[in-house]
Amino acid sequence: MFKSTPLLSEESIQNRVREIADSLNRDYAGRTVDALCVLKGSMFFAADLFRNLTVPVRVHFMQVSSYGSSTESSGTVNLYFSSAFEVEDCDVLLVEDILDTGITMNYLLERLRARNPRTMKTCVLLDKPARRKLDIKADYVGFEIQDHFVVGYGLDYNELGRNMRHIAIIDPAAHEE
Ligand code: PRP
Repeated sequence: MFKSTPLLSEESIQNRVREIADSLNRDYAGRTVDALCVLKGSMFFAADLFRNLTVPVRVHFMQVSSYGSSTESSGTVNLYFSSAFEVEDCDVLLVEDILDTGITMNYLLERLRARNPRTMKTCVLLDKPARRKLDIKADYVGFEIQDHFVVGYGLDYNELGRNMRHIAIIDPAAHEE
């Protein structure tokens, strides 16, 4: 399939997800979170995160992609699907698996902010600042990682590996195959 080297264990991911949920439970006390999961990569992170929330949460989905089968962002974000939901006057939390160049998050934030949310925050499991092309930061970050191509826990390599319970670095040689 592909060769990979472990980077983040299932246990460390689950511990960190609980810590992020604790922060969200504190910060959103007394409010309802309108969480927007960006498919496909955030599916496992979002599922685990939301199950650790004690504040009320409404769950919404959107599917965008800018990578296709490439390891480099195309720079163009394609929107494939969005569930209908109210944004105006809501506390919207965008949930992503990874913030890389920032192109996807910027695309989504521009569109969401135009619909006047009461608050607009972002939550990412992984942050790869070395690859940033736009000046953008997430409000909640699980792990900052170096410039590795990673797979697992929602992240894919040619659509495979999303169901791995841990996160691993793809062997660079595999990129060239
Ligand atoms: C990945 C990831 C983010 C985006 C981040 O999605 O899920 O949405 O790339 O990269 P960026 O900061 O460079 O824009 P991808 O396009 O691979 O789709 P997927 O989630 O369906 O795998």
